[in-house]
Amino acid sequence: MQIFKEDAVTWLSTLADASVDLVVTDPPYESLEKHRKIGTTTRLKVSKSSSNQWFEIFPNDRFEDLLKEIFRVLKKNSHFYLFCDQETMFIIKPIAEKVGFKFWKPIVWDKVNIGMGYHYRSRHEYILFFEKGKRKLKNLSTPDILTFKRVHRGYPTEKPVELLETLIGQSSDDKQIVVDPFFGSGSTLIAASNLGRSAVGCDISESAHEHLYRRTCES
Ligand SMILES: C[S@@+](CC[C@H](N)C(=O)[O-])C[C@H]1O[C@@H](n2cnc3c(N)ncnc32)[C@H](O)[C@@H]1O
Repeated sequence: MQIFKEDAVTWLSTLADASVDLVVTDPPYESLEKHRKIGTTTRLKVSKSSSNQWFEIFPNDRFEDLLKEIFRVLKKNSHFYLFCDQETMFIIKPIAEKVGFKFWKPIVWDKVNIGMGYHYRSRHEYILFFEKGKRKLKNLSTPDILTFKRVHRGYPTEKPVELLETLIGQSSDDKQIVVDPFFGSGSTLIAASNLGRSAVGCDISESAHEHLYRRTCES
């Protein structure tokens, strides 16, 4: 596993053209702030016992630069997955298409348990599925709703490793390079390593690096 502590776009700009086989990422998009406000009384409050601190937000007006870099570093015939909510999906899709990606569909992550809120309460997140060139999925009987219980009391917005293993298994081969430029707790990198891929990631925050260090040392 190779990790870096820098701004995602700055870091991606140091990678060579067409040098990455798969990107799976979960950027801290602006509308996450709204979800955080709903959750501040419980899960997302700062806790002394963990690195459970909120993180820096990545502004919507930087997505074009980010997506251009992701498109550039991906090899021809590769996939790209991006976690987001419905508000951000409508912002990202046209930008990703403008920089060259084909948008296939949003995959739904069903978190099984209902979230916090005062409306139709959220039980899912979207994973936007993009392609550069043409690449076949490994298992054509996988549905577009993936059901894995949400992670409780982990890093804020931590994704289940098994969910990431499904995406990485579908869209990469043994020893290929899987990149997450906003790794957070490191779930993507751990899933990639579990599957024998070469995991490379970046996160600007010290607490993400500490969290991943504890996670990999304690396991
Ligand atoms: C939504 S979290 C990722 C959670 C991750 N998917 C997981 O399973 O734990 C987003 C991460 O992006 C990081 N981040 C925020 N701004 C960044 C930037 N400009 N460059 C790199 N990382 C950044 C935050 O520190 C945070 O850890």
